[in-house]
Amino acid sequence: MAATGRDGPGAAEWVPEHPRSVAELDDAAQACRGCGLFRDATQAVMGEGPLKADLLLLGEQPGDREDVEGRPFVGPAGRLLDQALDAAGVARDRVYRTNAVKHFRYERRDSKRIHKSPSRWHVAACEPWLLGELELIAPRGVVVLGATAGQALYGPSFRVGSQRGRRLEWPTGTWPVPRPPEFVVATAHPSSVLRSRQRDADLEALVADLGVARQLLT
Ligand code: URA
Ligand code: SF4
Repeated sequence: MAATGRDGPGAAEWVPEHPRSVAELDDAAQACRGCGLFRDATQAVMGEGPLKADLLLLGEQPGDREDVEGRPFVGPAGRLLDQALDAAGVARDRVYRTNAVKHFRYERRDSKRIHKSPSRWHVAACEPWLLGELELIAPRGVVVLGATAGQALYGPSFRVGSQRGRRLEWPTGTWPVPRPPEFVVATAHPSSVLRSRQRDADLEALVADLGVARQLLT
């Protein structure tokens, strides 16, 4: 963890020990002061989906819409993700969606709030929430969406490009959870697909990677 940029004690002291519901985590996260990101955000955005979800989809952090609505993946990236899930034959109601960081980090430019990636320190500070979600949901598989999510699990050298679309092992050494997922699949972040100049090809690749995760569930 980078020593620089530390702006709080980390989330651990706010996370309930054995959460029984996502609502319990969500309520508790609203009080979190584990890092400085709570200050400028509207609210913490906890994950969403059924307790018995097979797959946990891990994004980066809530975006502008998500920050306002308090729900993950309800903006443009979420719509693209839904489209990709449908195309890959992954039932939307069988997935739990969440983010590595629960508060929206942004910069103000004129009247706009522009997404700013969380630092490694923010990601590490927020980890205890994801651990709580993993304990609660105990998904069979995890799909990491983009580099921030991949690096949250595997460390700073993780690259989506070289790892995507195949079965990865759960990083047991650094992420000890009671019932570890059977597999991890990495893919691109839907926001990067939205921004891409070769959007059709990138969407196709996202769908293919989600298809790998679906196959691994059978
Ligand atoms: N991007 C993310 O990583 N997560 C969201 O919830 C929305 C956009
Ligand atoms: Fe807590 Fe995470 Fe929000 Fe930081 S980003 S205040 S660690 S919930």
